[in-house]
Amino acid sequence: MSSEKIRVPKGTFDVLPVDSALREVVSAASTSIFERAGYGRIETPIFEDTALFSRGVGESTDIVQKEMFTFDDLGGRSMTLRPEGTASVCRSYVEHGMHKLAQPVKLWYRGPFFRYEAPQAGRFRQFNQIGAEALGSDSPLVDAESIMLLHDLLEELGVPGIELRLGSLGSLDARAVYRGELQTYLHANEGELSHDVRGRIDANPLRAFDAKDESTRAVMAEAPKLIDHLGDEDAAHFSEVRSLLSSAGISHTIDPTLVRGLDYYTRTVFAFTCDQLGAQSEVGGGGRYDGLVAELGGPATPGVGWAAGIERILLAMDAGEVSPRRDVFIAVESPDQAQRAMALVVELRHKGLTAELDLAGRSLKGQIKHADRVGARQTLVLGSDGSALLKQMSAGAQRQVEASRAVEEILSEIG
Ligand code: HAM
Repeated sequence: MSSEKIRVPKGTFDVLPVDSALREVVSAASTSIFERAGYGRIETPIFEDTALFSRGVGESTDIVQKEMFTFDDLGGRSMTLRPEGTASVCRSYVEHGMHKLAQPVKLWYRGPFFRYEAPQAGRFRQFNQIGAEALGSDSPLVDAESIMLLHDLLEELGVPGIELRLGSLGSLDARAVYRGELQTYLHANEGELSHDVRGRIDANPLRAFDAKDESTRAVMAEAPKLIDHLGDEDAAHFSEVRSLLSSAGISHTIDPTLVRGLDYYTRTVFAFTCDQLGAQSEVGGGGRYDGLVAELGGPATPGVGWAAGIERILLAMDAGEVSPRRDVFIAVESPDQAQRAMALVVELRHKGLTAELDLAGRSLKGQIKHADRVGARQTLVLGSDGSALLKQMSAGAQRQVEASRAVEEILSEIG
């Protein structure tokens, strides 16, 4: 038998208790923001029919071409671990006939996603997203409200150095015309383009704006921009989104090169970047996808939304460990008090406090040391003679309390 250690797969990680307290803070802030805005939580499966993503996200995207964890199930059907949430939410909207509900249907989600990417700081193969989707309205109000939710979340969490970049990809028709123009320009400058970009001129010319190499970037700086080719309605929509954001006090810059890596976007696209992050500077982003529901077999339905990476948010917050709340530790002078300690712990927990007792047979001294280590605010020591001593751990103060009134005394100290 091999004695080699088994480790987590590359690009994945364990979330240990010391890391989870801050994740809870991010989760609680997002839940509260969505609830206040009338978004309902949706949970879709971790794996779906591969066709959902190849059709929804787009055959020519990096995600579909090289980043999906795809496998055949035992019945020979092709399944894929979800690389993103929007396609699944739209599938669910169609499957459950949500177009019959009052529109727009506002949904949010939080959970793990999977992409076979080269791991680096802020980029993992299993990561967590918080996301929001509003389906069934093409009003610029919905774009603005959606963007505001992510803005508020980042603000509430105190994520520093945030910048909002905004663009518009226009409607699908206008984009088709522009695509042709861009392809002609790219073919004319083919010699200066990277191998990758050259290979994608016909399938996905817009992705050339995401290229990192100098030579391609120089060509793209002079390339025709989609934002200058918007039809009147798309331009008016974009201008309304901008003015709604400005009147809400949300500053933004226009980025004509913002194309994003998914094929379903139409009209508004946006990204929140953080100057504290290195190469993976995008904490979250999204946009409008007015053709996606129809693409997945549903009625023509506009939609807009975003997703933010929880690990990116945590990195940007640059927060260390946050100690979880620990209210009370019940210590015993002798093991025969263990039953009383257990009864008190249960009662305190029912009252909403966090309460623990010794589970390792420590000496009284060891128990007090342990209470300190776990960060208990108070320790109640049950004496063999039926007495009870309440210790304020950080102040070092202590006083005898009537054992029968221990719970009331603890509650009044905790406030
Ligand atoms: P996305 O830009 O591919 O959009 O991902 C959204 C966010 O997920 C990114 O801004 C980033 O913070 C995080 N993220 C993506 N890949 C990784 C990774 N490998 N490791 C860590 N974090 C990552 C979408 O997924 C769209 N579904 C967003 C959307 C919703 N558009 C409309 N509605």
